[in-house]
Parts: sequence; structure tokens; C-alpha cells
Amino acid sequence: MYSASVTAPVNIATLKYWGKRDKDLNLPTNSSISVTLSQKDLRTLTTAATCESFIKDELYLNGNLESLESPRTQACLADLRRLRAELEAANTSLPKLSQFKLRIVSENNFPTAAGLASSAAGFAALITAIAKLYELPQDMSELSKIARKGSGSACRSLFGGFVAWEMGELKNGEDSKAVEVAPLSHWPTLKAAILVVSDDKKDTPSTTGMQTTVKTSDLFQYRINEVVPKRFEEMKQSILNKEFETFGELTMKDSNSFHAVCLDSYPPIFYLNDTSKRIIKLIHKLNEQEGKIIAAYTFDAGPNAVIYYDESNESKVLGLIHTYFNQVGGWEKFDTTTLEKVIIEGTSSDIYKGVSRIILTSIGGGPQVTNESLIDQDGKVIA
Ligand code: DP6
Repeated sequence: MYSASVTAPVNIATLKYWGKRDKDLNLPTNSSISVTLSQKDLRTLTTAATCESFIKDELYLNGNLESLESPRTQACLADLRRLRAELEAANTSLPKLSQFKLRIVSENNFPTAAGLASSAAGFAALITAIAKLYELPQDMSELSKIARKGSGSACRSLFGGFVAWEMGELKNGEDSKAVEVAPLSHWPTLKAAILVVSDDKKDTPSTTGMQTTVKTSDLFQYRINEVVPKRFEEMKQSILNKEFETFGELTMKDSNSFHAVCLDSYPPIFYLNDTSKRIIKLIHKLNEQEGKIIAAYTFDAGPNAVIYYDESNESKVLGLIHTYFNQVGGWEKFDTTTLEKVIIEGTSSDIYKGVSRIILTSIGGGPQVTNESLIDQDGKVIA
């Protein structure tokens, strides 16, 4: 039996991907930018094993046997096997792993139900674990094109730090890939607080949501043609210059622009709830009170808030969040005695009721090979 294990991170976009120009190849209508989050707090661990005696491809996710049938997963597996087969053709002494079945076991270190971008980390870990198992020579940008076919945002989880997904122009998608904007070491003091917002309704899945937007929103054309191309360059520059104020303003504006095109879709798509909106107001008031932008919110296809800030402002930004959300779980490992009490006039003290959990994390690195394995030497899944 041959096996390899890899951990991969979650990423949260600061310039959102929303819209596909090719549904099968998962090609986007605009380029996007994200921050990779630390794997200490959020990561997927995946072991991929292969053996002549395995009788079918199998995937276990958080202990449950899952289907591998989806065309997206099939596209990823086919690409990886093709690359392995090319190696085997060039060097006939290599074992014919491309012809064996795969056993893939995957686990998140955070609750999947929290509605965090688990599919990005999941596909990134799946692709990098199999690439390692197959000893593929392709670099991360090349592999990101395969991850992209699994889930668009997953291609950005192949790098740490700040990452761009360049939309590309080619019809076959060969130039639609993730690239590093700046590594983790460039701005290691960037932090993120995730406020997991309780919600009972099921959100529109991003894949169907973006199809509706592309088909029906007029505002969307303005976003992809006028707003995003300019913002993409400005945001990259703000990252390279480590200008939090510009980076934060662009991040908040882009989150708002994305939710605006959702509302402009027909029928409209709502991802933000009342708690999300109250958090948006709170952050704007904090920045106003400070006289500069020290915290920036962003929301994906759901009501959870991700607040980016620089460590130098931690006592104020986390101070604000702690003032209003100290009753919510997630502060246990954090020394809250250093935090300031930050009061924002007019904020109701029951705002914490809409939030179920706080995750305090920071910018992080890309996928990593690990010795930790979820499959034992006999090919059995380790429970
Ligand atoms: C709002 O990557 O989940 O999080 O490609 O259809 O799998 P598919 O969509 P997905 O969409 C992510 C949308 C977003 C913005 C972003 O991450 O850029």
C-alpha cells in the first residue's frame, strides 16, 4: 500500500469570486483575492492511499462514507490519474498507481456545520494529498487548476498568505489559476476573528446562487467589468504595501458589492441576516470612533462575519468584540485581560444572542505534508 497525508487551510476572500463563465470547467467571471487562515484553528487533514487490492474508490469524510460520484470530484481524480499515468509512461519502473483504486479519508478540525468554507480546504487537501501520493512534479499553481474544478474557491487554498485567483482568458481554463500575492511572512500580524452567526434557514448554495446572479443581475455586469478589475490591482498593491486602511476599505466595499449583486438577482438572494447587519454597523462605528480603519468585515454566502485586523490594534478590535460577545464560546484559550472595554453608543447588549461561537485566528500557511495518517498500514480507516 502507498499513502500520503496532507493538511490544507481555509481561505476567506477579500475580493469575492461570484459568477462562472464556464460551469463545467469552473471558470470565473472575475479574478479574486483571499487570505489563507491558520491551520491551527481551521484545517482539513486528508490521507490518500492506493493499493492493487482496493476494489473501488472510496471517500470517508469526518467518519462517514461519502459519494465520489459528483462530476466535480470525478474531474479532479481523472486529472490526477492522467498526470500520474504520464509519469508512469515516461518511467516504466514506476508502480502503476494510476490504475489502482484510491481510499481517501478526510477530517476537519472544526465543525463542518458552522458554515465555514470547508469545501475549499477539503478539495485543496484532496488534490494535494493525491498529488503527493502520486509524486507529481507539478507546482501549486498547476495543481490549483485541478482544485478549481472541484470548487472555485478551493484553488486559492493551495497557497498560504495572500492569494489571487487569476480568472484567465482561455476557453480551456489553462490560465485560470491561483498565484501567491505575498507569503505569510510578508504580513504575519494580520489576524481574523470569525463570528459564527446562528441561522435556521438554509442558504442558497453558492453554485446556484451565482448562476442566478449571472443570468439576472444588471448590476453584476458593472461589478465584473468596472469595479473588480480596478479593485483587484488596488487590493494587491495595498497588500504589498501593508496598508491596512486601504486593504480594509476595499475588503468591506467588495463584501458589500457582492451582497448587492445578490440582492439585485431575481429572485433576490439574501445571505446577511439582522445580526450580520448589526455587526457591519458595529465595525463602521468602531472605525469612525478611531478616526481610521482598524477593522474590516467580510461575509461569504452566509451570515458569518470574518473581521480582519492587524495585531497592533488587537486590544481595541478584540476589545470591542469581547465587550459585546464575551458570553459566546471561543475565548477560552485567549487572555482577555489585556483587552480594552470598547463601548459603541446605541448598541443593544443582546447582540451576542445572534452569534453562536467566536473563532480567533490569523493568517496562515499553505498545505503541508504530515506524518499524521488517517489510514493504518493494513489500509483500514483509523477511527
Ligand atoms: C462567496 O467556491 O463555493 O465564498 O465554485 O461553485 O464551488 P463553486 O463555488 P464556491 O464559491 C465561493 C463564493 C464565495 C466567494 C469566494 O470565496 O471568493
